[in-house]
Amino acid sequence: MCVLIFRAFVSVIAVLALLVSAEGSVGPSTNASFCTESKECLEYQLVCKTDEYEVRHYSPTRWVSTDAEAYFMGVGAAMAFRRLFQYITGANNAGVHMEMTAPVLVKIPEETQMWEPTIYTLSFPLSAAYQDQPPEPTNDKLYFTEMPEMDVYVRSYGGWMLSVTSRLHAHLLTKELERVKAPYNSTFHYGVGYDSPLKLLNRHNEVWYVAEGEPPPASNMCFHLFRC
Ligand SMILES: *[C@@H]1O[C@H](CO)[C@@H](O)[C@H](O)[C@H]1NC(C)=O
Ligand SMILES: *[C@@H]1O[C@H](CO)[C@@H](O)[C@H](O)[C@H]1NC(C)=O
Repeated sequence: MCVLIFRAFVSVIAVLALLVSAEGSVGPSTNASFCTESKECLEYQLVCKTDEYEVRHYSPTRWVSTDAEAYFMGVGAAMAFRRLFQYITGANNAGVHMEMTAPVLVKIPEETQMWEPTIYTLSFPLSAAYQDQPPEPTNDKLYFTEMPEMDVYVRSYGGWMLSVTSRLHAHLLTKELERVKAPYNSTFHYGVGYDSPLKLLNRHNEVWYVAEGEPPPASNMCFHLFRC
């Protein structure tokens, strides 16, 4: 009985999520307590939540991206971050300044070789005003990325996002996803940062794995919320 009610509840949520997703999905700093430093943040619907992770639904969005090839994430990320920052502060063919957005997303491949640099892709969500028609970057190392509609598994942590902490939390999240048999794309994860390096307290970072397969993953994994 409880399971049936729960299932029905999940499908209602899924339908609601679809309805809402027609709306723009980068907006004024959200109600998310961790979106504190940027004027605009990526929005999402919380599908469900356990003690270990959240399941979120994201609508399609457009991002500006650049690749960094580096042996250490920190080195590549700093260079790539600067390029993206220059783009939103005027290095574009319209010479416009765009609102700073959050989060910054770092696509991190799961398999890396010691003797080869890794390609990290950094992205900023384009601010709401430029989602549809972003000005062209003047730097040809930048390009636009269409993020499809997706469900993601999210684990949050504080402190600074370093290769080491990011991989640790990615590992903890995958252990949990494997325990509950949640299918996800295991070829990469996202390191997700919300704060500038200058912020010292209450920092917020996340690790994301993209959920795979139909139906949406909520059905078996978030019982913890609903006690019978
Ligand atoms: C934030 O919450 C308020 C009230 O709960 C709601 O009206 C508003 O749409 C929310 N804003 C965003 C960006 O989700
Ligand atoms: C998993 O992600 C990789 C890298 O983005 C992509 O090429 C691949 O198609 C994805 N796998 C599935 C099953 O979607």
